[in-house]
Amino acid sequence: MTEKTERKKITARDFAELKGQRKLACVTCYDYTSALLVDRSHIDAILVGDSASNTMAGHPTTLPITLDQMIYHVQCVTRAVRHCFVMGDMPFGTVHGDPYAALQNAIRMMKEGGCDAVKVEGGHEIRASLEMILGANIPVVGHLGLTPQSIHRLGGYGLQAREEAAAERLLEDARMLNEIGVSAITLEKIPAALAKRVTEAVSVPTIGIGAGPDTDAQILVMQDMLGMTEGFRPKFLRRFGEVGEAMVRAFDDYAAAVAEGSFPNETESY
Ligand code: KIV
Repeated sequence: MTEKTERKKITARDFAELKGQRKLACVTCYDYTSALLVDRSHIDAILVGDSASNTMAGHPTTLPITLDQMIYHVQCVTRAVRHCFVMGDMPFGTVHGDPYAALQNAIRMMKEGGCDAVKVEGGHEIRASLEMILGANIPVVGHLGLTPQSIHRLGGYGLQAREEAAAERLLEDARMLNEIGVSAITLEKIPAALAKRVTEAVSVPTIGIGAGPDTDAQILVMQDMLGMTEGFRPKFLRRFGEVGEAMVRAFDDYAAAVAEGSFPNETESY
């Protein structure tokens, strides 16, 4: 693995061109301190996901988070990042309807947030908005399959595109996204075999979450993969750390030291 210090900034173009060269690792991130740590690691890309609505704000869905709030999180991350490719998630309601309004929202995300690309949930139904955004030279990352902003229509967070007709529709959307020039396509919670078909059908990297081993990249929500969240244990989630337990232990050690009067000691006092 290359030393971190030798790594250059990964742009949207670099990320797209990495398809087929090696597998890519992505993680979500929403704050400055965590972004510094992610950027020190060998992670390739950060998604400032609208999952901030859940992980940062405690909402049950991604719907409530606003564009201003997303821009705030994107700014916190981009202030820290020197190497990773940073995607800013366009929140619910910012790309549907008038394509010109979608463009203005994407411009705000890029100009104020400072990210390298915007990520947008959806396919053919938002094609005009996507083309308008791409027409302004803003790199776009697509998102198909389980699109949490559609939770009220989908009726749950289950596996998507199980039936052949739905799989064909998803493949068509992926081909369309590829054709109009997106930089990558996120595939969430779809059968592994379908994710493989999509990955083979498009020329840009696919970023999988719950989409099996054959996508070009993988992404996980940081709090989930670090073991900071309770009760969310879908089959696709591997916990790469038990940071939540480590934090509770540290809080308890601190509280105990305060209670017994051993903190602060002489060397920790002025
Ligand atoms: O917002 C998010 O975290 C996402 C990932 C799950 C892909 O969209």
